[in-house]
Amino acid sequence: MIFSSSLVLGATAVSLVAGLALPSPIQEASLLQRDIDPGQDSRSCSSIKDVCSPDTISDPSNALSHAACIALVVCESPKDFLAQFPPNQPRLSRDAFNAVSGGSDVITQQQFIDFYYGTIASINSTIATSNSSANLLTPEYPSSAETVIAWWQDAVAWTGFCSTSSIPYSNFADWIEYSTATGVCGAVQSCDAAKNAATPACVPQRPTDNGSCAEMVSQCILFAGNTTHIFDNEYCVLASFCYSQSTVDVLIKALVQDDYLYIGQPVLSINQPRLTQSVFNTLSGGNTVVTQQNVIDAYYGLLTNTLRSCGGPPGAVTPCPSGSSGPYPTDVSYVTDFWETVSAWTGFCSTRNIPYKNLADYLQYSSTVKAPTSC
Ligand SMILES: *[C@@H]1O[C@H](CO)[C@@H](O)[C@H](O)[C@H]1NC(C)=O
Ligand SMILES: *[C@@H]1O[C@H](CO)[C@@H](O)[C@H](O)[C@H]1NC(C)=O
Ligand SMILES: *[C@@H]1O[C@H](CO)[C@@H](O)[C@H](O)[C@H]1NC(C)=O
Ligand SMILES: *[C@@H]1O[C@H](CO)[C@@H](O)[C@H](O)[C@H]1NC(C)=O
Repeated sequence: MIFSSSLVLGATAVSLVAGLALPSPIQEASLLQRDIDPGQDSRSCSSIKDVCSPDTISDPSNALSHAACIALVVCESPKDFLAQFPPNQPRLSRDAFNAVSGGSDVITQQQFIDFYYGTIASINSTIATSNSSANLLTPEYPSSAETVIAWWQDAVAWTGFCSTSSIPYSNFADWIEYSTATGVCGAVQSCDAAKNAATPACVPQRPTDNGSCAEMVSQCILFAGNTTHIFDNEYCVLASFCYSQSTVDVLIKALVQDDYLYIGQPVLSINQPRLTQSVFNTLSGGNTVVTQQNVIDAYYGLLTNTLRSCGGPPGAVTPCPSGSSGPYPTDVSYVTDFWETVSAWTGFCSTRNIPYKNLADYLQYSSTVKAPTSC
């Protein structure tokens, strides 16, 4: 019922929006700040909950079957949207998508703007005919269409349609379903090149990661110093391995970004001192090769009884026990998968036993020299 009234009133809103000039380029209607913006734009977005919230829809376990919820997921972001509904929501259906696209294969930016304004315009009449006892907000339009464009561009960037700003069905459904998963990265973080460069790179991870790689990086940060010699530390070497779906250089840039005292340019892997023999020996147990089992033992071992900072500036902190362990990967295949990448790059697929020189080469050159990444 909510579904149909949105559609009817959406038609009214199209003419309303047609009168709005759409300035370009998109200005600083910052997506990053929208969650803490107490102003009109966030009130506009929140007011959609009058017709899309667990209290105001009949079937919260299938929220996206309500057209208004498509407006809400875009203005709130999938993460904030999904957090308020029961887990395991069904994937956005083509029918629901069609309610915005008018049956076409893509939703254009203008269609979404019209749809957003139409949704807001319909709320008053929808709640007038409902018996909702929920605490309802006053429906409000956003401060300008630019705000709606900025929200839409978040989905456009993730799905990789910056050139057209129109998103096909399956990509839009993917954005809702997967953009909140850990380690799943969008095509770009922003269609604005300058903003994109200023945002830390998203690091793709396998679902089995379970946050373990991020913890390994946190451990590395305690010892990374000015990030000019990271291959002399076991945590940083293991973090380099678990970044295998990204690159060692992306890790280095992340470490540099974390150290606010270091103002130099990142020393990329090719210019880092080579892997130290002592870290290699620790990993290999004094043998001439590092085996897959060595890496499994090291990865789980280093995540057991982790450390934290007991004071001191970045890079010169005093490490002390955190009193906890993990998170560990959900499956040991996480470790064997990233070790497969290292084995493939170094040409040791058959044994997965890697000698010093080749392992040191992986750390130093895999960011810049292309080679197979699977066996
Ligand atoms: C609202 O409540 C009235 C009286 O309880 C009922 O007759 C009506 O059908 C309800 N309307 C809706 C939309 O649920
Ligand atoms: C909805 O109704 C309220 C109360 O009458 C009014 O203040 C508000 O401007 C209306 N909003 C829209 C979008 O029509
Ligand atoms: C980084 O730290 C090392 C000592 O750990 C020091 O020798 C080196 O000069 C520093 N490099 C930069 C660029 O700050
Ligand atoms: C994933 O990490 C969480 C948080 O540390 C932990 O409770 C859980 O046991 C981990 N999952 C597995 C399968 O180890």
